[in-house]
Amino acid sequence: MVWALSEPPPLPSRSFLVIHASVTGTAVDIAERLARRGRREGWAVTVKGVAEFNQLELLETPLIVFVLPTTGNGAAPPTFLPLWNALLHPSLPPDFLEDLRYAVFALGDSSYGKYNWVGKKMSRRMDSLGATAVVQRGEGDDQNEWGVESTFPGWMDEFYKAIDPLTPAIDGLGQLSISDVPPARIQLDKVTGNTLEVNPTPPPWAFDVRWAKIRDIERTTAPGWYQDVREVELEIEGFAEEQVLYEAGDVLEIRPQNSPEDVDKFLTSIGWTSIADHPYSITARSSDQPLPPHLPSPYVTTLRHLLTHEVDIGCVPRLSFFEWLAAFSGGDMEEKLRHFCSGEGQDDLIEYTNRPRRTINEVMYEFRSAKVPPEYILDLLPPMRARGFSISSSPAAHDGKVDLLVAIVNYRTLMSTPRKGVCTSYIASLSPGDRLPVRFDTSGILRLPAGTPPLIMVGPGTGVAPFRALMEERRRVGAKENLLFFGCRSISQDFHFEKEWKKMVDEGDLTLSVAASRDQDDKIYVQHRISEHSKMIWDYLSRGGLVYLCG
Ligand SMILES: Cc1cc2nc3c(=O)[nH]c(=O)nc-3n(C[C@H](O)[C@H](O)[C@H](O)COP(=O)(O)OP(=O)(O)OC[C@H]3O[C@@H](n4cnc5c(N)ncnc54)[C@H](O)[C@@H]3O)c2cc1C
Ligand SMILES: Cc1cc2nc3c(=O)[nH]c(=O)nc-3n(C[C@H](O)[C@H](O)[C@H](O)COP(=O)(O)O)c2cc1C
Repeated sequence: MVWALSEPPPLPSRSFLVIHASVTGTAVDIAERLARRGRREGWAVTVKGVAEFNQLELLETPLIVFVLPTTGNGAAPPTFLPLWNALLHPSLPPDFLEDLRYAVFALGDSSYGKYNWVGKKMSRRMDSLGATAVVQRGEGDDQNEWGVESTFPGWMDEFYKAIDPLTPAIDGLGQLSISDVPPARIQLDKVTGNTLEVNPTPPPWAFDVRWAKIRDIERTTAPGWYQDVREVELEIEGFAEEQVLYEAGDVLEIRPQNSPEDVDKFLTSIGWTSIADHPYSITARSSDQPLPPHLPSPYVTTLRHLLTHEVDIGCVPRLSFFEWLAAFSGGDMEEKLRHFCSGEGQDDLIEYTNRPRRTINEVMYEFRSAKVPPEYILDLLPPMRARGFSISSSPAAHDGKVDLLVAIVNYRTLMSTPRKGVCTSYIASLSPGDRLPVRFDTSGILRLPAGTPPLIMVGPGTGVAPFRALMEERRRVGAKENLLFFGCRSISQDFHFEKEWKKMVDEGDLTLSVAASRDQDDKIYVQHRISEHSKMIWDYLSRGGLVYLCG
C-alpha cells in the first residue's frame, strides 16, 4: 500500500529515540543497528526497551522510532502493554502528539493471521493522535527469504533519507565512514586494591525476580528415548502462606548461565583469557547508551562473570555481530565478514549461520584473528534472555512450589557436534539443592474462564504442561467437563503425566484421548483424534465450551 505522508516539521536537534519491545531479541538488534548507523552519520541516538520508557517522553521527544514485534496471535509483547493502554485512553485529544515525528518498523510473520498487527495498530494510533510519520511503516516478515534482512536495510535507507533534511548536520559530529569503529557502549576501568568487591551473584534481571531451589529434577521419557524431557520441581524461597505467587496457566521465567566450558572457549577465541578475572568497574560512556537497566552503575565485575551471566554466546549470531567483528578484523576475514553484512551476502550468511545453527561461540572461534577490545563486550554480544516455561502445577495444589515439564533441546544439523539449547542445557545441569533466580510471568498468556464451562484442551508433547495446572484447578472447583487431546510418539516412551491423567479419568473428571503417532504403522496425530470426538466437541462448544491449544 502506498500513501502520501504529510511534510514532517524540522527537528530542533540532530537526535532521536528508538524504542523496542522485544520478546526474542530481533527488535533489539534492529534498534541497535538503526542507532549505530545514526551515530555514524552524526545523530545522537538513544535506544531503550519500552519497559524503561517514561510515557512523558512522548511529549518531550521530537522523533521516536518504534520497533515492534507482534507476539502470540496478534498480541502485543507484555512490556508494550502499559504504553499501548495509555495511548488508547479515550480522553486523549486528536492533537495530543502533534509535536511528535515518528517511524514504525514492525516485526512479524505473515504465516500468522494477524500479521504485524502491533506495528500496524501503533501507526494508526500515532496518526490519530496527531503525530507525523517521517517515513512509511517498515515491515519485517519471518517468511521472507532473508527474514527481516529482506526489508530492513532498504527501510533504514528511506528513514535516514527522510530525516536528514529535517536538521542540518552539526559540525564536529559524526559522518564516520563504514570502516570507522563507533565508540564502545561501556568503559572498563581496572579496579586495583580491595576497595570494590565483585559480587558473585548476578543482579536480578527484573525487580520481581525471586530465588528458587531445585527439589527434584527427573527424566520422564524412557531411558534411551530420543528426547530427554524432565519434570522439574522448584521450591520458592521466602514463600509465606496465603501468598499468591501465580495462577494456573502462568509461566515461569528462567535466565540461564553459559557453562564454564563455553565461557573458557569463548575467552580463548577472543583472546581475553589473561584478563578474564580482573575486576573492572563498568560505566556507560554516554547517556545515549546507558548500561542495561538491571545493572548498577558503576558495576564492578569481571569479563568471566559478564560472559557467564549477562550475554548469550550460545545463540545463532545476528547480523550486527558480524558488523562488529568486521570492525576488528583485517584482510580476507574482514572481507568475508563485510560480505555477510551486505545485501548480496544474505544467502551466504543464512547458509553459514541459520541453516547449520552455528553459534556465536563457534563463529568467534572461526574468526579468532579478530582483535576485539573488551570494552566492546556489550556491543558485540546480545543480552542473555530469560526463557519462559509453562507452569504445570496449580498454586492451590502445590503450596510455594512450582512444577515444570522441560524438553531438553538437543538436535543435529550438518555441524559435527549436536546443537544444544542454552537454557535447557543449563536446567539439565542442575541438581536437587541448587538455587536459581526465577520470575513469574503473570501477564495471563493462558487463563481459566470464570465459572465451569466445558473445556477442550489440545496439548502435544510438553505443550500439555499447563493443562496439568488447569486440570488441578478445575478439579478443585468441581468442573468435570474436560476433554484433553494429548499427542506423543509412543505410549511407553513419552506419555507425560500418564498416571495423573489416568487417575483423573478414573475419577470422572477428564475425557482423555491420546494420539501416539508411532505406535502403529499409520501415523496418528491429535487432529485424527479430534475428528473421532466431533460429537462431544460440538456438544461442548454449543454450550459455551472453550478450546485451548498449547505447544
Ligand atoms: C509461553 C511459553 C511457554 C513455554 N513452555 C515451555 C514448556 O512448558 N516446556 C518447554 O520445554 N519449553 C517451553 N517453552 C519453550 C522455552 O521457552 C524455550 O524456548 C525452550 O526450552 C528452548 O530454550 P533453550 O534456551 O534451551 O533453547 P535456545 O538456545 O533458545 O534454542 C532454541 C532454538 O533452537 C532451535 N531448535 C530447537 N529444536 C530444534 C530442532 N529440533 N531443529 C532445528 N532447530 C531447533 C529453534 O530455532 C529454537 O528457537 C515455552 C515458551 C513459551 C514462549
Ligand atoms: C509465540 C510467537 C507468536 C507470534 N505471533 C505472531 C503474530 O500473531 N503475528 C505476527 O505477525 N508475527 C508473530 N510472530 C512473529 C514475531 O513477531 C517475529 O518473529 C518477530 O521478529 C519477533 O521479534 P522479537 O525477536 O524482537 O521478539 C510470533 C512469534 C512467536 C515466537
